[in-house]
Amino acid sequence: MTEIANDSHRRGADDYRAGATAGVENCIETEGDPKSNGGLEYVVVTTPVLIVGAGAAGARVAIELAESGVDPLVIGKREHGDAHTTWAAGGVNAALGSLDPADDWAIHAADTFNEGHHLNDPEAVELTAQEMPDRIRELVEWGMPFDRTDDGEINQRYFGAQSYRRTCFVGDRTGEAMLETLIGRVRDLEVPYRENVMITRLLSDGERVDGAVGFDMETGEGLLFRTNHVVLAAGGFSALYHRHSSRDDENNGDGQALALEAGARLMDLEFVQFHPTGMVGERYGEEWDGRLVTEAVRGEGGRLYNAEGERFMERYSPDQMELDARDVAARAIAREVREVRGTDDGGVSLDITHRDAEYVRERLPSMVERFDSLGVDITEEPMTVAPTAHYTMGGVDIDFRTGETGVEGLYAVGETVAGVHGANRLGGNSLAETVAIGKLVGDHVASALTDADEDPDVTNGQQALAEREFQALRELTASDGNVTPMGLLEDLGDLLWDHAGILRDDAGLREGLAKLDALRERIADLRVESDFTSKSFEYAVDLSMSLTVAEAMLRAALERTESRGAHYRTDYPETESDWRVNLVTAVGTDGLSISRRGVGEPGPAVREALAEGYELDYHHLE
Ligand code: FUM
Repeated sequence: MTEIANDSHRRGADDYRAGATAGVENCIETEGDPKSNGGLEYVVVTTPVLIVGAGAAGARVAIELAESGVDPLVIGKREHGDAHTTWAAGGVNAALGSLDPADDWAIHAADTFNEGHHLNDPEAVELTAQEMPDRIRELVEWGMPFDRTDDGEINQRYFGAQSYRRTCFVGDRTGEAMLETLIGRVRDLEVPYRENVMITRLLSDGERVDGAVGFDMETGEGLLFRTNHVVLAAGGFSALYHRHSSRDDENNGDGQALALEAGARLMDLEFVQFHPTGMVGERYGEEWDGRLVTEAVRGEGGRLYNAEGERFMERYSPDQMELDARDVAARAIAREVREVRGTDDGGVSLDITHRDAEYVRERLPSMVERFDSLGVDITEEPMTVAPTAHYTMGGVDIDFRTGETGVEGLYAVGETVAGVHGANRLGGNSLAETVAIGKLVGDHVASALTDADEDPDVTNGQQALAEREFQALRELTASDGNVTPMGLLEDLGDLLWDHAGILRDDAGLREGLAKLDALRERIADLRVESDFTSKSFEYAVDLSMSLTVAEAMLRAALERTESRGAHYRTDYPETESDWRVNLVTAVGTDGLSISRRGVGEPGPAVREALAEGYELDYHHLE
């Protein structure tokens, strides 16, 4: 072991972007050529709290810790500011009542329960709805440039299935603006961070986490993190699907797989949200296939038409029309396409040309710009859209006041977890959850720290586990078969799209599981570039995590023999009251095990709002 200079956890603003060595304490090297003899080469990084994921949720946890005097280390797989958060475009929900003074947190919570088909964790929903007005004000203080009304209030737009205009926005780049704001704050607080780091394993004995192993995707260097507290904020797993709204190399289930392997439980995995409007069609090119056309287009009045020119939502949802829940709109579009009323590209038209062109440019600037770059003026012609996998409601099972997972020292937050959204998510609630729950989790982790956490021991068990992991990674780079990791991930995407998509049934899900087994067998014939910095290696590491999460999701979808929210079983089309339970997945003695858990009831204020039966009246938009 070679000691190198100690480095303070605190860093100056100047070396912030160069913070790739933040928290690096010493370096361990072994002799020999690691490629030929399996030797290991890695550095040890010590931090009181490791935050895995640098999107809005991870950033908000970091801010809370830093404000409490703790220096966490935030690591992200990409450059800072380049996280999945940026793809949440249309807005963030908070019952401010800027335009609709009757709105309040309890109605926000009631809408969230209704959209989640009452599988949501009541505490999670209430905390989110209650916290949000303050979290918005705080974002304003930190410089987030929300759109304003003529009176200077924060402007709010309609979003699907919300009783009032509740979605605060920055044009149609709200997630991007929120992440910029949070990162600005993270920078002001001089929080250490590292970019381009992937975590491959948590060091856990199933009861307690005391570190993590990963590698630097730019240098190929191995990293052993010594820490007693790990917060997973690594996103969801929607990108496992063939068509998805995120980029290919994000949201591929790392957080859920790491947690499961460390001994935590997952919940609600069967609920995958298909956003009704992803880009589709040759004229946009493959690169854009599935990318999000924000719900804000419909929130600003956009209309859906089939190839026969029919505004078909009149048949599916005459009251809420295009702004009905995402699952309703997505299934309606899928059905139009299936019944051959779609466009040649396999989509439908989304049209906002009836609105004043200036208004569209002001409210939807990113959409205008993106389509413009593809030769389409959306103020003059419709877009072609079809459903795309967008968000996963399922994830790590946590306690929402603390972020605790049941494995000591392991916490999770954001899209990595399950609970706020139940069986389907209200648009605008994902950004809300990141900051509302992120603050609470940061606060709790700060209070859980002791002096001993500043310099945790490297136990023998931890060291041995880490070295086994580095060895396994090294061996992965020596895989010289015939199948590429990318090829297997693509096959996985097709499998999930075909067998666990918008419509599911018993036979299809079973076939999906059988194909998954076959796909796993092909891993023996993997070919990986022998370079830790290659995409091929990154995808090979992704692969095992993605397969774990895909299997857990298929099994949960098979288990739930009813339809509810985003989970639609053609063989069980009804929602059954007996099925108002969460499915909890854990690693059992014999592979994955699934159990049922009853759902709690919301408090009196929310029950009252539910009893009032608030709902969106679409015709306000006309
Ligand atoms: O359509 C959208 O802009 C997505 C927002 C969200 O998923 O919350």
